[in-house]
Amino acid sequence: MFSDLRFFLKQALLEPKQTSSLVPSSRALAAAMAAHVGPASGPVIEFGPGTGIITEAILNRGVTPSNLTLFEMNPAFAATLATRFPGTTIHTAGAQNAPNLMPHAAGAVVSGLPLLSMPRDLRREIIAAAFQVMRPDGIFIQFTYGHNAPLSVEGLNTLGLIAKKARKVWANFPPAQVYILKRAKI
Ligand SMILES: C[S@@+](CC[C@H](N)C(=O)[O-])C[C@H]1O[C@@H](n2cnc3c(N)ncnc32)[C@H](O)[C@@H]1O
Repeated sequence: MFSDLRFFLKQALLEPKQTSSLVPSSRALAAAMAAHVGPASGPVIEFGPGTGIITEAILNRGVTPSNLTLFEMNPAFAATLATRFPGTTIHTAGAQNAPNLMPHAAGAVVSGLPLLSMPRDLRREIIAAAFQVMRPDGIFIQFTYGHNAPLSVEGLNTLGLIAKKARKVWANFPPAQVYILKRAKI
C-alpha cells in the first residue's frame, strides 16, 4: 500500500500532466466506479488505470481478466499492471486509440482519466472513442472532482449522449462524483 503511494507519487512528479493527481483514488471511490459493471457487462475496458486500484475493484465484481482491457499511457504503470493483473489485455497507449486496437463490443468503459484537466478536443475524442468501442447499450463511467460533468451539454449533444450523476463519494480526497454517460437513443 505504502509502496503503491510512493510509486504513484513518483510517476506524478515525472509525468504531472498525464497523471494529474498526487495519490491514487480511494478504495471507496474504486468500489463506487466498479459497482456499475459485473459478469453480465461482457467485455469491460478501463482507461487510465494507474496502479490499478479501480482495476482490482472491477475484477472483484466478477469481471474475468480475459474480459478486461486496460489502456494506460505511462509505460511504468503499464508494466506494473501486467505483473499485477495477469490475463488482462494491456495497451500501453492513449485511450483515444482504442477504436484501432480492439473489437467494438464492450459493455462498459470505466475511466479514471483526468478528463477535466485535458484540452476540450482531446476529452471529446476520448469519449467518442469509448462509444465507438462499445455496444449501443454501453455505459461510460467517470468520476470528477467538483461540480462539472465530464463533458459540457454542448459536447454531450454533439456526441448524442446523456450524463447522469451516480454516487457521490465523500470518503475520497477530494470528494468525487461518479457520472454515467450513455447514448441518448439506442
Ligand atoms: C489521475 S490518474 C488515475 C489513476 C487510477 N485510475 C486511480 O484512480 O487511481 C490518471 C491515469 O491516467 C493515465 N492517462 C492519462 N492520459 C491518458 C490517456 N490519454 N490514455 C490512457 N491513459 C492515460 C495516467 O498515466 C494515469 O495513470
